[in-house]
Amino acid sequence: MIEFNNLTQFLDHGWSCINRGVADTKSPGRYPTLATVSKDLLPEARTVVLRKADRNTSILEIHTDTRTEKVNTLRQNPNASLHMWIPNRRLQIRISVIVKIQTGSTIKKRWEEVPQKSRVSYGTLPPSGSVIKEPLAYDQMPSMESFAVLECKIGKIELLHLGRNHTRAVYQASSDWAGTWLVP
Ligand SMILES: Cc1cc2nc3c(=O)[nH]c(=O)nc-3n(C[C@H](O)[C@H](O)[C@H](O)COP(=O)(O)O)c2cc1C
Repeated sequence: MIEFNNLTQFLDHGWSCINRGVADTKSPGRYPTLATVSKDLLPEARTVVLRKADRNTSILEIHTDTRTEKVNTLRQNPNASLHMWIPNRRLQIRISVIVKIQTGSTIKKRWEEVPQKSRVSYGTLPPSGSVIKEPLAYDQMPSMESFAVLECKIGKIELLHLGRNHTRAVYQASSDWAGTWLVP
């Protein structure tokens, strides 16, 4: 089993799992949990799809509907966290982000790239989270106006590897990703 004793290699490994999540729809990194903080300071977590990852800019991208609760919440408090567990690598990845909500003409190109069959996720009527009388009492009216890109700027990445020995490290943008070991 792989063991880590070099901070840079450990971070490279974390990023390869993140990138795999974007490229491979079967990878567990494809479906991170996005946690936000509600107006009442309560935690809210949900599964999302990781659409893009760029190590150079430290930006991860998630697509959503502008009228979802997470968007309302992020408008109030842009601090969020993404969590992944990659079972075959025995690796937990915790990512602290600040989220910018992109809508409208700036994301027109992204909208055009969304396959027709996936567009139904953006534009339900009534909006996501509305109370309805029957389970299927809603329509799908895809529209670019309802489409949002959550641009997640990474401030911190924490890795925990459960190998023969357990290893944990944290990396911060503020220290240029130098990293430091932590007790697991
Ligand atoms: C496998 C899976 C992938 C999902 N991907 C997304 C996604 O990429 N974007 C999204 O807004 N919701 C996604 N959802 C739905 C969310 O988990 C959530 O139910 C919905 O967005 C409403 O969340 P909110 O009320 O907290 O905003 C996904 C759910 C599952 C089970």
